[in-house]
Amino acid sequence: MKKPTRVNHPPTVDLPPDNYSVVAPIYQTVKFEFDSLEDTERYLRGERPGFFYTRTSNPTMRQLELLLAELQGREECLVTASGVGAISQTLFALTKQGDHIVCFVETYNPSRYLIRRLLGRFGVTHTMLSIEDTAGIERALAARPTRLVFFESPTNPVTKIADIAALTRLAQAAGALTVMDNTFAGFHQHGEYDVDVFIHSLTKYASGAGDVMGGAVIGRGDLIRGLRTDFGTLGGTLDPHAAFLILRGLKTYFVRYQAQSASAMRIAETLAAHPAVARVHYPGLPTHPQHALARAQMRDFGTIVTFDLKGGLEAGGRFAESLQLFALAASLGSTESLVVAPQMMGGRDLTPDQQKMSAVTEGTVRLSIGLEDIDDLIEDVQQALAAVGT
Ligand SMILES: Cc1ncc(COP(=O)(O)O)c(C=O)c1O
Repeated sequence: MKKPTRVNHPPTVDLPPDNYSVVAPIYQTVKFEFDSLEDTERYLRGERPGFFYTRTSNPTMRQLELLLAELQGREECLVTASGVGAISQTLFALTKQGDHIVCFVETYNPSRYLIRRLLGRFGVTHTMLSIEDTAGIERALAARPTRLVFFESPTNPVTKIADIAALTRLAQAAGALTVMDNTFAGFHQHGEYDVDVFIHSLTKYASGAGDVMGGAVIGRGDLIRGLRTDFGTLGGTLDPHAAFLILRGLKTYFVRYQAQSASAMRIAETLAAHPAVARVHYPGLPTHPQHALARAQMRDFGTIVTFDLKGGLEAGGRFAESLQLFALAASLGSTESLVVAPQMMGGRDLTPDQQKMSAVTEGTVRLSIGLEDIDDLIEDVQQALAAVGT
């Protein structure tokens, strides 16, 4: 074999069958081959297991899918290139022209855009309500056949809590699927509820380090397997190296989520005690209007603390800029603390009534609490509040 040929066919190194890599290898390859054309054809006919092309499946991605399905307490999972990719591929795969979606004002902005603008272009209609309006949800489901109810809990950014048991009961009675963006609560929560499809942004708590993007769609076997061909064709597949980094991040998921949630509680208490603060939104605080529901549904209340400053937009901006340890950046769930100033909040697509419903005000600030020492974080928050004045 000449050297230009050899570099394309390097020596193979096989592990002996009784010798194992402690950390699973990354299958950083697009293509897989079988020994024969016959085996290739059998694979393509679905008559034998294996892998063929990474856009549709890859062992590193599969390992992540199996782990995430187990963490969320379901049978199947598909991973995607981002959280938004998971949402858009799911909604495109599950709906067709003429279908109706029930969705909520208290939803991550790109999800609202997707439902209103993109799916709207293809003749999918929607009714947008407040997640707190259970009677309205019942009316909307009674008024017309509905394909699915799409919701979050806690909601982004003001951490309202959806009554998941009531929502799933109403949706099931109406023959609608429930699709829940469970990113804020994490994989270890809400699995006991009868939600049909869980969606996660893996960019957040799963990776934890804030250096890789990904998404996941998790649910019962028949439903999720039925989406696989559409997902492969829509093409927003996760890369094997990203899957490897997310698998690595997941090793510390539980300790991170718990430690960051405990710090978030301390920050929420600090904010609640300060005269410059009008209102703190944190489901773990007894003053949260849905604290009892949060306690019933959740084990950890999460790492997002949102609050309203009495001084409005200007105070929010000053607070965010005065923080030293919090990066002025979007995203959440990573080990470093982040702040979203009111000037960075979305919601311009909402009508004035919907904006009121969303509970986002001119002075709303969202903090994502990281893994820094809690005393340092509290000191930083206190000095930034002092800079705002009362
Ligand atoms: C609730 C929620 N869902 C989905 C996403 C989208 O995730 P990604 O950035 O991985 O596309 C985000 C991102 O902030 C989010 O907050």
